Amino acid sequence: MKIAIASDHGGVQMKAELVELLEQLGYECEDYGTYNCDSVDYPDYAEIVANKVAGNEADRGILICGTGIGMSIAANKVNGIRCALVSDVYSAQATRLHNDTNVLALGARVIGIELAKMITQTWLETDFEGDRHVARLAKITQIEQKNCKGEA
Ligand code: RB5
Repeated sequence: MKIAIASDHGGVQMKAELVELLEQLGYECEDYGTYNCDSVDYPDYAEIVANKVAGNEADRGILICGTGIGMSIAANKVNGIRCALVSDVYSAQATRLHNDTNVLALGARVIGIELAKMITQTWLETDFEGDRHVARLAKITQIEQKNCKGEA
């Protein structure tokens, strides 16, 4: 499984530690920045990772900012992206089982690194349950298509 990962300045340290974890777990991991603590704009990084996943250049994406909120809002603007902001292990599992999320957002100023690692591993290792959730996801796709204004 290929993972695209990025953060803003608020998540750069957590990203470095998650990249290490992903490599230990045997995932192919592409780090799209940012690479230092200089202030940057989170939508720029969310867009890169979301496009990699939507374009099938990566299987999953992970985005980290201070709260994870801005990253999740921005990533969910890209068609085909189902991004969940997760702060607990139960939701990490449920959002894969039920929502088939393809991008995970984390808040580096909200949760600690050990919890972030548990969330990340759980999210990566849990398969979509399918079944009744397929029709629900199709409804989300319909909303996306109804509201599609075409290329800018
Ligand atoms: C940056 O200061 C902060 O706004 C950002 O990391 C994130 O929390 C936005 O949602």
